[in-house]
Amino acid sequence: MLRSTTVTVTATAVTLACLGASFYASPPVIAESMGRQVQAFSPIDPRTYPGNSDYQSAVVEPSATQERDHSTASDTLNQPEPVASLPASEPRQVDEVKLSPVAADTVAPSRTSDAPTTQPTPVPRIEERLPVPSPIASAEESVGREEALPEDVDSPDSITVIVNKLRPLPADYEPDDLVELTPELGSGTHELREEAAEATLALFDAAQQEGLDLTVVSAYRSYAYQVELYDTYIQQYGTTLTQQMSARPGHSEHQTGLAIDVDAVEGAHTLKQSFGETPAGQWLADHAHEFGFVIRYPKDEHDYTGFQYEPWHLRYFGEQYAQHIVEHSGVAERAFDLDPAPDYKE
Ligand code: DAL
Ligand code: ZN
Repeated sequence: MLRSTTVTVTATAVTLACLGASFYASPPVIAESMGRQVQAFSPIDPRTYPGNSDYQSAVVEPSATQERDHSTASDTLNQPEPVASLPASEPRQVDEVKLSPVAADTVAPSRTSDAPTTQPTPVPRIEERLPVPSPIASAEESVGREEALPEDVDSPDSITVIVNKLRPLPADYEPDDLVELTPELGSGTHELREEAAEATLALFDAAQQEGLDLTVVSAYRSYAYQVELYDTYIQQYGTTLTQQMSARPGHSEHQTGLAIDVDAVEGAHTLKQSFGETPAGQWLADHAHEFGFVIRYPKDEHDYTGFQYEPWHLRYFGEQYAQHIVEHSGVAERAFDLDPAPDYKE
């Protein structure tokens, strides 16, 4: 059965609560706002997040399971659900993650110019058989490339805005077309920009037709909420690990209203890198771009994106540019000819 296509515009600002996940199971937590048992993380309790300082081995992603109210920083973060019964988790090792390699740009084969020349009918060397690029052809290729690049990667309201460790959003930026996701898309209250919300609906419907039930665990996050979240991580894990998994306020794509953290309803790999190996994770890797989304933080691209592999974090760019990114290495910065953003300026 398809989900409702209704997306309700909300006039109410709400507070998203985001929480982290450990790669391995910490004590199961009942995330009541999600309406189901969520294994291995508590949004809510940073003590259940990994303390492993090896960012490639520890995976944590803030998620949202709670209502938010971004009116002020001090009242933005709803208090976590009770955690008194939860023991602190120890740092854990990470599952071995096997992924399909990200498609790289095709590189024309090269050959040295030592082809035999004594044959009666010598085979032309590769260089001789290939058409010599003309200035006109080069110009056409250049134009084609430019047409594939988005016009606006700078404006916060642009669907193709790039936000990373070198490209912050204004602290007071909040999208003006946020809509509330229908409950079928995720327990709790989640908001996205309207276009991204509609795309999420289409994405989830298509997944459902393949027998995969997806749910949103985090969507729009205000600057104020990210302040609370980031500070919590810093206190719990220190700066080094936190910076691999959680964006500084103003540097999170979640503030654009164009990013979602996705989980399978069964929730056995919630916000873990192992989600990428599940049928849901693999389906998303194969099909999300058809609905305008990309997996924004691919595996082994930290030096470009600034963040560890997050197979659950989807960013909406629209179909044209999602396709372009997938065809150009899977990393938005590289695909859009932007600088790598491995770290903050200071
Ligand atoms: N986990 C991603 C990088 C964020 O905090 O926006
Ligand atoms: Zn995310």
